[in-house]
Amino acid sequence: MNFSTPSSFTNATPPTTAFSAPAILSGSALVKTYGSSTALAGVNIAVRAGESVAIMGASGSGKTTLLHTLAGITSPDSGRVEFQSASGPIDVTAMNERDRSRLRREAFGFVFQQGLLIPELTAIENTALPLMLAGYPRREAEGRAQHWLAALGLAGMEARRIGELSGGQAQRVAIARAQVTGATVVFADEPTGALDSATSDDVMSALLGSTVGQGHALVVVTHDETVAARCSRVIRLRDGRILPDATTGAVAGSSETGVSA
Ligand SMILES: Nc1ncnc2c1ncn2[C@@H]1O[C@H](COP(=O)(O)OP(=O)(O)OP(=O)(O)O)[C@@H](O)[C@H]1O
Ligand SMILES: [Mg+2]
Repeated sequence: MNFSTPSSFTNATPPTTAFSAPAILSGSALVKTYGSSTALAGVNIAVRAGESVAIMGASGSGKTTLLHTLAGITSPDSGRVEFQSASGPIDVTAMNERDRSRLRREAFGFVFQQGLLIPELTAIENTALPLMLAGYPRREAEGRAQHWLAALGLAGMEARRIGELSGGQAQRVAIARAQVTGATVVFADEPTGALDSATSDDVMSALLGSTVGQGHALVVVTHDETVAARCSRVIRLRDGRILPDATTGAVAGSSETGVSA
């Protein structure tokens, strides 16, 4: 795990994506149905280290299902998710629940619309929680958490409870928490959905700077074109399928949709 904690990346500009980089996470032929409704109808997607991928589409088009399937939270009915770990490729779909949950804790980070922070805990306690759960001594966990909070512009707010922070500040605590373990892929589902546009911009800067700015990957579900425009790539879903990409001319359902030729 890489626990590097840069001093500040709040205003970092993400580097241009290296399209030649190998995929750190890929999903092939992903299908997921719930009763009679098809959430994913055969999705192919590859995410590279250092890139940010926005997933857009109407409500019910399968965005959250895709995010959760890539993150090993939801098991697809068929298809395969592969994660490139430091020691080689891992077939996430073939892992048992215990190993998948460990992978999620150690390699992935999550940010949701309403940060899902624990209101009774302070900013630093919330941020340190994944490390505490991983068995780190409190002092070390909080030391690392403090670095991340400072890097996200929250120095001095460590001891505040979540209710004592603004929406944007709370979301930055959620971002710090998502990355305190050194996550190489961060998944965000509508991370700015509850924020005004200026705050949303700040939170996106923090999110991009602390993920792609560090060479890691970001997968973000959003309804907001402004948020999507800041990502290296946009994938649009309709009825569980990826729509053809107007910029690359890729065909929906083709292999590795979204990969620039
Ligand atoms: N746990 C579930 N049980 C039953 N149906 C589900 C479940 N999760 C998702 N679905 C269905 O799968 C389809 C895709 O849902 P999903 O949550 O992925 O959509 P979404 O694009 O994230 O929508 P939204 O923008 O509203 O969040 C929808 O038809 C939804 O009703
Ligand atoms: Mg959703």
